[in-house]
Amino acid sequence: MQSLPKKNKAIGVTAFGGGAETLKEVEFDLPELASTEILVENHALSLNPLDTKLRKYGLWLTDKISESTPFVPGCEGVGKIVAIGSDVKNFKEGDLVFYTYQGLYGSAAKYTAVDYRQAAHAPKSLEATETACITTVFGTALETFSEHMGIPFDPSANASKTILIIGGGGGVGSAAIQIAKIAGLTVVATASRPETEKFAWKMGADYVINHKNPFSEELKKFDGEVKGFDYVFNTADMTQDSFKKIGDVLNVFGVVAGIAGFQEPISIGAGFSKRAVVAFGNFSLKARLRQRLETYNQHFETLAKWFDEKRLIPNISITKPFSKEALIEGYNKVEERTMVGKYVLKDVNKYFA
Ligand SMILES: NC(=O)c1ccc[n+]([C@@H]2O[C@H](COP(=O)([O-])OP(=O)(O)OC[C@H]3O[C@@H](n4cnc5c(N)ncnc54)[C@H](OP(=O)(O)O)[C@@H]3O)[C@@H](O)[C@H]2O)c1
Repeated sequence: MQSLPKKNKAIGVTAFGGGAETLKEVEFDLPELASTEILVENHALSLNPLDTKLRKYGLWLTDKISESTPFVPGCEGVGKIVAIGSDVKNFKEGDLVFYTYQGLYGSAAKYTAVDYRQAAHAPKSLEATETACITTVFGTALETFSEHMGIPFDPSANASKTILIIGGGGGVGSAAIQIAKIAGLTVVATASRPETEKFAWKMGADYVINHKNPFSEELKKFDGEVKGFDYVFNTADMTQDSFKKIGDVLNVFGVVAGIAGFQEPISIGAGFSKRAVVAFGNFSLKARLRQRLETYNQHFETLAKWFDEKRLIPNISITKPFSKEALIEGYNKVEERTMVGKYVLKDVNKYFA
């Protein structure tokens, strides 16, 4: 194995529970590279709600943090491989890769060590900033559609099928619209503000409705063109109210997937009467359990190919040079839940040079 850098520099926290302003410069020992890991020098990262939830609540990292082992946010990144473990296949030093990461030392750092099966080669046609948006949001949509909702990627099978994407102007929603169009579905996205509505149209939605109103009322605008949904993909918190609104427009045998979780106990009677399947997307779980890791790489390779074929377009709305201040500002914006597309920080390697 190659000689590795001994220290890592990053922006992180040494205690969970604070706001974004608790993020500070940290330096810590780089753990030894595991045989299946690649060491990536980070170039760009995009910000995700999960980073803020981990900083606030610790979640599965709660017992691991200390002064010498800070938490560094950044559950995805893009950069150059500077070292590889002895069991790594298909990658070499110098390769430009993008990856998903669920551990303590995320991508707001000079280096991130990640299992090679959680990475893929960057699409040739994209800038690093554009590539930095792929894994969490496009990955979650593709994984949930294909592994949990059983959506066939066969436009002829989906010619008469409809999907409702709740939160179509956000990061995951704007990715999901595009992936649903590749599958050949008719896509109705929801948005409640002019800027998110515009973004949902730009991402390829066939119809846009307002999630502040009952969906059944909104559908009346379309003169019967869309009467109900075979699939519902909810990127917002699942509540009793939202489940009822979904139940009202779900077709018999429909499939509902939530990725933000159930935030209160809810009665799912509306789903029962439709013989619905209710699924839970959880993109980080396989990495945390160290199971089926190769499926991340498979999904990322598919997404990279679709970007290079111009079947997908990047969903960035804000790009800034990496700094502690930009990271704090960005995470505050993500926590407001008013993002349009993705917030990206570039030149991470230059900041830590
Ligand atoms: N389980 C998983 O695998 C997984 C993976 C990725 C993300 N997530 C979670 O999924 C959620 C969305 O992630 P994201 O990256 O897309 O977040 P995001 O980009 O910050 O989402 C912002 C969007 O959410 C919409 N929104 C806010 N409240 C809403 C509501 N009550 N109903 C409908 N839309 C609402 C807003 O639309 P308007 O401004 O138009 O209202 C806004 O455009 C987060 O909770 C995240 O942690 C889970």
